[in-house]
Amino acid sequence: MPSMRAVRIHEFGSENVLRLERVERPEPGGHEVLIKVMAASVNPVDWKTRKGEYAMVGEDDLPLTLGRDLAGEVAAVGNRVSEFKVGDRIFAMLDAKHGGYEEFASIPVSQLVGMPAGLSFDEAAAVPLAGMTAWQGLFQNGNLKAGQRVLIHGGGGGVGHFAIQFAKAKGAWVATTVSPADASLAKELGADQVIDYHSERFEEVIDPVDLVLDLIGGETQDRSFAILKEGGVIVSTLGEPDKAAAERSKVRAVGFMVNPNARQLAEIGELIDQGKVNVVLHKVFPLEDAAAAQRALEQEHVQGKIVLRVA
Ligand SMILES: NC(=O)c1ccc[n+]([C@@H]2O[C@H](COP(=O)([O-])OP(=O)(O)OC[C@H]3O[C@@H](n4cnc5c(N)ncnc54)[C@H](OP(=O)(O)O)[C@@H]3O)[C@@H](O)[C@H]2O)c1
Repeated sequence: MPSMRAVRIHEFGSENVLRLERVERPEPGGHEVLIKVMAASVNPVDWKTRKGEYAMVGEDDLPLTLGRDLAGEVAAVGNRVSEFKVGDRIFAMLDAKHGGYEEFASIPVSQLVGMPAGLSFDEAAAVPLAGMTAWQGLFQNGNLKAGQRVLIHGGGGGVGHFAIQFAKAKGAWVATTVSPADASLAKELGADQVIDYHSERFEEVIDPVDLVLDLIGGETQDRSFAILKEGGVIVSTLGEPDKAAAERSKVRAVGFMVNPNARQLAEIGELIDQGKVNVVLHKVFPLEDAAAAQRALEQEHVQGKIVLRVA
């Protein structure tokens, strides 16, 4: 059986549990496509999974290859696949138990999308999970419409930098909270009001909004009720916002988990093709430096996305 390299964990813990190993190369099932992975992005869920802090992955799922999205080339197709052929360039978000930190991945054809022509593999790998989180937060859960006002917390990060651009492309007015180091980027991406969360309290400097997209949680989430219009909505990637506070403020409060959705990823790809959305890469690490890549994402200031180059 041919083998390949993969970064796996056999137990939960610090970066030391990440192991670069040789494992069996997968064969695509009937409805699957074998991808030669060129790049995989690093998301906060990767280090949370590694630490055992992600509820979808338990001891029974180990050993596990980490990574939730990838870009690469079709290397083989299952006997029931007609949508893709060998050599096609694709990107995809993977489900919780299916890694991207590996040289070959066999994934259901329903999750694959042709990648935007103008992107490198590194850039394309950065898009799926973060991009779809922004999309589902703003549009599926937040129901954002043209002309509405949205506040995006954490606009300099992986999800936030896409969210600013998607909301602007939709025709919304956008405010965002960022570190001072990300203020000029947020402006360049189109934000109408940029708030430095180190030195300003957003509730003192912003007029009421229709939607808050909360990518931070904690007291940032709690303080956000004060700046929502009556009938507005707070959508969070970090747990269910306080329902009693929502009732008192006469707003809706939604916590959600992103799900792979090829149709939405294709729409995101079109915005990238049209030049309306840029991918911001903070740093690209080789696959064997997955530990350093996770450490950087968890502990350092990161602008945009961190990516692992696999091939
Ligand atoms: N529920 C889901 O399905 C889902 C999906 C994707 C992501 N998430 C979660 O959503 C969060 C964001 O994800 P991400 O990929 O965008 O993470 P990320 O790339 O690490 O970005 C987080 C950003 O937030 C900034 N930040 C930190 N504290 C802040 C504050 N108080 N106010 C404003 N900005 C602040 C950071 O800037 P500094 O580094 O300069 O502080 C950084 O730019 C993570 O916790 C992730 O686990 C959940």
